[in-house]
Amino acid sequence: MPDVHVVILAAGKGTRMKSARPKVLHEVAGRPMIEQVLDTARRLDPASITLVIGHQGDAVRGALAAHGDLRFVVQEPQLGTAHALLTTEPLLRERTGTLVLLSGDVPALSGETVHTLVDRHTGTHAAMTVVTTHVADPHGYGRIVRDGERIARIVEEKDATSAERTITDINAGIYAFALEGLFEAVRGIGAENAQREYYLPDLVSIFRRAGRPVETVTVVDASEIRGINSRVELADVSRQMRRTKNAALMASGVTLEDPETAYIDLDVQIGRDTIVKPGVTIERGSVVGSGCIIHAGVRISASTIADRAVVLDHSVIVDCTVAADASIGPFAHLRGGSHVGPHGKIGNFVELKKTVFGEGTKASHLAYLGDAVIGSNVNIGAGVITCNYDGVRKQVTTIGDGAFIGSDTQLIAPVTVAEGAYVGTGTTIREDVPPGALAVSAGKQRNIEGWVEERKKRNSKLKT
Ligand code: UD1
Ligand code: MG
Repeated sequence: MPDVHVVILAAGKGTRMKSARPKVLHEVAGRPMIEQVLDTARRLDPASITLVIGHQGDAVRGALAAHGDLRFVVQEPQLGTAHALLTTEPLLRERTGTLVLLSGDVPALSGETVHTLVDRHTGTHAAMTVVTTHVADPHGYGRIVRDGERIARIVEEKDATSAERTITDINAGIYAFALEGLFEAVRGIGAENAQREYYLPDLVSIFRRAGRPVETVTVVDASEIRGINSRVELADVSRQMRRTKNAALMASGVTLEDPETAYIDLDVQIGRDTIVKPGVTIERGSVVGSGCIIHAGVRISASTIADRAVVLDHSVIVDCTVAADASIGPFAHLRGGSHVGPHGKIGNFVELKKTVFGEGTKASHLAYLGDAVIGSNVNIGAGVITCNYDGVRKQVTTIGDGAFIGSDTQLIAPVTVAEGAYVGTGTTIREDVPPGALAVSAGKQRNIEGWVEERKKRNSKLKT
């Protein structure tokens, strides 16, 4: 929309969060809330998006560095929401059309609602349109005071009379304004209130007195406009957004055995007929294919799991890819950009770090495979360890297709076991193994007959 400009307020201290981190960078359903608000802003395809930052503004700006099109203005000190809007005047003074004001701490707001807001606002030629809703517990919100059907003013919780506090019709803190005359009107706002702040909602009565029309848009689903001011509200809104996400996944054909305990971040994609068992966390940047089974207690983060893969209980997969039909876990740990090939099998207590694990290759029990390039159809025995770190550098272990690495082998990198080679149990591999060769390093076994009986005798003499 070429004549729509969005301003997002994110300068406030977020006192009630009791946090060293700026409020708008706290995560809702695995995502900084400001990113969620930005998504909603972009749904309007606006001519510009301006963020008002202040308290820990550098941290907010830094976290949004990937969004090259944003404009930032610094509000210092933070004297209230009206004062915050005024800081955007130098950027927007010359503009005409509509200014949509979003709050950085209202992340569940939908694209539909902001579209409805702009349509109503432009359709009625209002000076200001306020998003409102009804809530059972209006505590903390600005209340909508009406004369008849029309909005007369907004009163903040701290300034409200006890009668006004019973009003359940509340201000969402989301508005559309006609840009013409806006900043002049904002300058008319005073700070004679309980918080000594310049309140943006005061514009309602200012416009009404000036005879300019003020409209409201009432959102039916109040959960959409919940503001986050405390950790409890952060948890509540997260839970609600995850519920919506989970419902969408189930509608698209994913089974969540217990949706209340499926912690799936908003951007995660999951294919049809995948089954997610209870207590699973699938974090930001992850894609899970179709027909997979993700068992209880699994955490998957920034990873791709292809079709029909099975991830058994309590495995952790961070920043990795798992190909189709692979099986991982239970209790496996995949990290550092590892890749498990098709039909690969990673068993219990196996850790992979920055390792390429070939098609049909198996490491069924208790292994550490770091900085390794492992071919296809390799068998890695129990207790195999790549000694990839010499105290200074990380070194690579290469294992060719079809090789067999016996249990309890240590591979001291850099080293290569060529294709089809066989490494005996308990071997320490310090040198390359040629294709098809057998490598053994343990000495010949010695049996000392009668040793146990002899020891018993020695010990009993010592006791007396
Ligand atoms: C505000 C509204 C209230 C509404 C509620 C909805 C005011 C005075 N009150 O209250 O009517 O019901 O939102 O959630 O506007 N901010 C700045 N600079 C400032 C102060 C705040 O950028 O000087 C930003 C904050 O970072 C936040 C937003 O504005 O993103 C709202 O501020 P907040 O302090 O949370 O206002 P509420 O008390 O929630
Ligand atoms: Mg708030």
